[in-house]
Amino acid sequence: MLHQSVRFNQQHTDFYFDASFRQLKQMLKPANTFIITDTNIFPLHTTYFKGWKTIVIPAGEAHKNIATVQYIIEQLIQLQADRTATLVGVGGGVVTDITGFVAAIYMRGVAFGFVPTTLLAMVDASIGGKNGIDIGLYKNLMGTIRQPAFLLYDTHFLKTLPDAEWQNGFAEIIKHACIKNAAMFRNLEKLSPALLKKNKQKLNELIQKNVQLKMLVVKADEFEKGERKLLNLGHTLGHAIENQYSLSHGHAVAIGIHYAAILSQQILGFKQPERISALLTQYGLPTHFVFDTKKVMNMLQMDKKRQQEFVHYILIEKIGKGIILPIPLKDLEKIYKII
Ligand SMILES: NC(=O)c1ccc[n+]([C@@H]2O[C@H](COP(=O)([O-])OP(=O)(O)OC[C@H]3O[C@@H](n4cnc5c(N)ncnc54)[C@H](O)[C@@H]3O)[C@@H](O)[C@H]2O)c1
Ligand SMILES: [Zn+2]
Repeated sequence: MLHQSVRFNQQHTDFYFDASFRQLKQMLKPANTFIITDTNIFPLHTTYFKGWKTIVIPAGEAHKNIATVQYIIEQLIQLQADRTATLVGVGGGVVTDITGFVAAIYMRGVAFGFVPTTLLAMVDASIGGKNGIDIGLYKNLMGTIRQPAFLLYDTHFLKTLPDAEWQNGFAEIIKHACIKNAAMFRNLEKLSPALLKKNKQKLNELIQKNVQLKMLVVKADEFEKGERKLLNLGHTLGHAIENQYSLSHGHAVAIGIHYAAILSQQILGFKQPERISALLTQYGLPTHFVFDTKKVMNMLQMDKKRQQEFVHYILIEKIGKGIILPIPLKDLEKIYKII
């Protein structure tokens, strides 16, 4: 196990990489700890939860809502959780987002930590302190920014992770490499999903590098004023087509990254869009996608990254270096049409 402590303004977050869930017993008292997990994870890993007070919520994005928040809070009251309680979210991004949110509001705030169990939650969702829930169709509309006390990484959980969920994680990992780390990009070109699933050490190294990369970006810009926007690479177009065409998040982001690479070629003279599409393909992700430009432009009009008539688009100057560029909506429409 590798322990790393990262300071965040007043407090710090402890990271336990290459760790085992069982080590939680050395860190926390079961009497005062409340685990939150979901209905998919609990039956697959029951032995882990023995001896812990556990609240099991229904799995899936549809349940990242106020009804589930209310359910968790009622369970906490029943289990007599007080101000000294620690909540531990053991799950994917849905569980970690909702756990962080409940911890921020229960009795005006209690301590919390995460054990992410999807690749996406490990490298992305559980890091950075953003938490929250959806209100109807509005994703993450209600939430706070608050850093967890600890993150514990146990890749054993990934043994039961479906392939589609691995792909969601790989899309974010490739995103990280494109915007910030050319060496990681080259390393990914040498690896493959099959190899990473077999090689625990390489997988742990990759996870750790991605966590550090996201932590650095978030630390430099906790409240998303500049640098943190780079993490939106592939997400501008990605979000628009994800909902319109019911794509998985990973597929939508991969297509978004591919389009950002082509835009980068046209606007900045970026030379290697093919290298990016080849890597996406290597990790089982799609690149080309035919979409209705009008519909997508309507979605972008409402995008929260838009200021006046511009979209703050994330482009790639070269592999390992993302930049933020305001692009006029009308130019974007023209470019989308000819790609
Ligand atoms: N807070 C942030 O900064 C941030 C960043 C990115 C994403 N998110 C949020 O994260 C969520 C997406 O995260 P996600 O992809 O992990 O979704 P998720 O939590 O829905 O997990 C995906 C699926 O995998 C199942 N699962 C989880 N771990 C498993 C395991 N070990 N074995 C088998 N099945 C398992 C879950 O039950 C679920 O069905 C979204 O709600 C998104 O808004 C938040
Ligand atoms: Zn994403």
